[in-house]
Amino acid sequence: MQMVGQTSPSVSSVHVVCHNIEIKMIEFEKIILTEIPNLHKIDIYEQYGGYTALRKALGMTPDAVIDEVKKSNLRGRGGACFPAGLKWSFMPKQSAKPKYLCANGDESEPGTFKDRQIFELNPHVFIEGALIEAFAIGAQMVYVYIRGEYKKWIDLLQVAIDDAYEKGYIGQNILGSGFSTDMQVYRGAGAYICGEESSLMNSIEGGRGYPRVKPPFPAQSGMWGCPTTVNNIETISNVPAIMNRGWEWYSKIGAPKHPGPLLYGISGHVNKPAVLELPTGVLLTDLIYDYCGGVKNGKNIKAVIPGGSSTMWLRGEELEGVRMDADSLKIVGTSIGTAGVIVMDEDTDVIKVLTRIAHFYHHESCGQCTPCREGTGWMEKILKRFLAGEGTMQDIDLLLDVANNIEGNTICALGDAAAWPVQSVIKKFRGEFEKRAKKSPTVSQYVKPPHLVETMLNV
Ligand SMILES: Cc1cc2nc3c(=O)[nH]c(=O)nc-3n(C[C@H](O)[C@H](O)[C@H](O)COP(=O)(O)O)c2cc1C
Ligand code: SF4
Repeated sequence: MQMVGQTSPSVSSVHVVCHNIEIKMIEFEKIILTEIPNLHKIDIYEQYGGYTALRKALGMTPDAVIDEVKKSNLRGRGGACFPAGLKWSFMPKQSAKPKYLCANGDESEPGTFKDRQIFELNPHVFIEGALIEAFAIGAQMVYVYIRGEYKKWIDLLQVAIDDAYEKGYIGQNILGSGFSTDMQVYRGAGAYICGEESSLMNSIEGGRGYPRVKPPFPAQSGMWGCPTTVNNIETISNVPAIMNRGWEWYSKIGAPKHPGPLLYGISGHVNKPAVLELPTGVLLTDLIYDYCGGVKNGKNIKAVIPGGSSTMWLRGEELEGVRMDADSLKIVGTSIGTAGVIVMDEDTDVIKVLTRIAHFYHHESCGQCTPCREGTGWMEKILKRFLAGEGTMQDIDLLLDVANNIEGNTICALGDAAAWPVQSVIKKFRGEFEKRAKKSPTVSQYVKPPHLVETMLNV
């Protein structure tokens, strides 16, 4: 019988035909989005070994659990790839104040749609992982923060949480261990910024979704000034398998410095858009051609965004040999982000796509810091000038200047997230801007007011 993250009979050898050569690409066992039917039901989850990892963890010391996760080298799946075990170890061992775990299911980054799959298909693997983490860090409460529009998934998760309460996995004296914790779903009002960990905490506290200046970091002063850890839903869902199978097993999956299974969400101009669970480090071209059926109508690829809308773009010609893990993507000047891959074919108007992205970041900026509040609007405005045929050659450099002045000068990473796509598209597709630029600006053309850029930095 196939056990969830326990035994290995579900190992699947994937054979693909690539350039007429059949290649045995991967031997891999899915641990999150498995093939087991009806795994969202608690009885089925238990039948396939569910909640044994929790039992095992409760029989260990919290430090031993943290050590196991540290050694596994599990890294965050919410975008920044921060080592999970290390983050857990920042929580104070002794605390007069209560401790909290926030599970981040805001999932609002364009191109990202994988956490919802976990809520739908395997919610208990997340719940079990969250309970293990709560035990390890000593959290008396787990808040699961989900974007309010995701009602379908909120309802599905709530059913699973209720079932887990009924079976004694959540609540007082869990499985007779003496450890108690509660779990509550918190609905966000639909703001991208509320996925940023400190504004997420403000939101749960009932305040406005404004990011906080760090330090202090959440482990020192998080929810209501108490020690808090924030982790992504997918990160947490990896934990039961690590507990059951051990860190050595886990650390050998995929890319050595960024191991484990990864949920890749592939969208855009591919024949079969999908969320796929595969090891880290698969070839980007394999994802597109072998797993997603290639590009629609057999067209060439113009560009790919590898990790959600905030990551730097790659040109179609740059994709060969690029692997999908944190270090490999860093080498080619971009990042894994949320592994939300967006594929654009040869006919894509990249300036139009970039303008849409710029509009998103302008709209979602919380407005606290000037470079982001003003700069995101300026970038959108300049890009719209290009769409309207009113952009000039000077505008290309102005746009880059604005992006460069946002990057690194803001309270939270939304500013960087807005700047990076603009910087990379100018770098990689400058010719597209030049082709569209009006050659001789008229008097009515926008002229760069240099003082404004400087003013923008006086936060
Ligand atoms: C603007 C912004 C939006 C974010 N949105 C999300 C989100 O929807 N989900 C998420 O897990 N992390 C999001 N993050 C990252 C979180 O701040 C945090 O790093 C993450 O939840 C930590 O989890 P991990 O270490 O398990 O990846 C966002 C960050 C920024 C700056
Ligand atoms: S960078 Fe943007 S979203 Fe983040 S705090 Fe500043 S204004 Fe708000």
